Amino acid sequence: MPQNQPASTAANDPASQVAELVRKAKRTVVFTGAGMSAESGIPTFRGGDDSLWSAFNPMGLATEAAFREDPALVWGWYVWRMAKVQAAQPNAGHHAIAWMLQHLPGIELVTQNVDDLHERAGSDPVTHLHGSLFAHRCLACARPHLDFEIPQDALDQPQLRLQPPRCQHCGECIRPGVVWFHELLPEQTWQQAEQAMRRADLVLSVGTSGVVEPAASLVRLARTSRAQVVEINPAASGQSEFVDVAWRQTAALALPELVARLQADGGRT
Ligand code: OAD
Repeated sequence: MPQNQPASTAANDPASQVAELVRKAKRTVVFTGAGMSAESGIPTFRGGDDSLWSAFNPMGLATEAAFREDPALVWGWYVWRMAKVQAAQPNAGHHAIAWMLQHLPGIELVTQNVDDLHERAGSDPVTHLHGSLFAHRCLACARPHLDFEIPQDALDQPQLRLQPPRCQHCGECIRPGVVWFHELLPEQTWQQAEQAMRRADLVLSVGTSGVVEPAASLVRLARTSRAQVVEINPAASGQSEFVDVAWRQTAALALPELVARLQADGGRT
């Protein structure tokens, strides 16, 4: 072997390095963002020409003010996103995380995503920081509204205009069950996520730009508490400067590789 050829160490084999960290950790939080679902065909918000916020104005679609101003525009856009998620399938990364939750002790899943692909892959429970595309509720009385059927032709129509249904109790508009800009995150969910981050000794941060607060602060909180942080993202993010391992790979490739290492080694030692 030539003298100056690097040996195959953990440092240049991120799958082994991360598998070792998972094996040693007593409490791991998997923290996911939109990149997690990119390989299922769900567009991310930032990065790339096909990302949502490069095509649409977030303030015109993802605020309560925008909804009050033009409910049909906003509801139609969310119905298009619901249709996209409904037509999508969980990818190999979602399945790998579900395997970890089912087979390794001390793993928790916190997501910024409003899709249900983690659940459909078998992950349970899932802490949804930003709500759910499918948990509609009344704008005024906040009662849940469960019986909305996504129109069949919504899938290819981001500009669809659709009047939101009305609340059966108070008659006000039904709104999407997601957290909009300028809104607080659900209190109990936030507390759960904060606790998970404080007690974690490892965070696997997957597919997030790490620029949206307060969600991004959770990873910093874990880091300053005591956790090591692994980033799985093909590109650098707002977190890259403080992570311990930056695994420049996509979620649907990296996570199954990680699980394969954990399975080959018989799980946690
Ligand atoms: P972003 O859209 O901001 O960032 C997506 C990240 O995923 C980027 O860093 C990409 O490099 C990375 N990425 C792209 N493809 C990937 C792949 N196949 N595997 C892994 N990573 C990949 O998404 P978030 O960080 O989740 O808020 O955005 C945070 C919040 O901003 C969202 O929850 C949403 C948005 O406004 C609300 O809806 C309240």
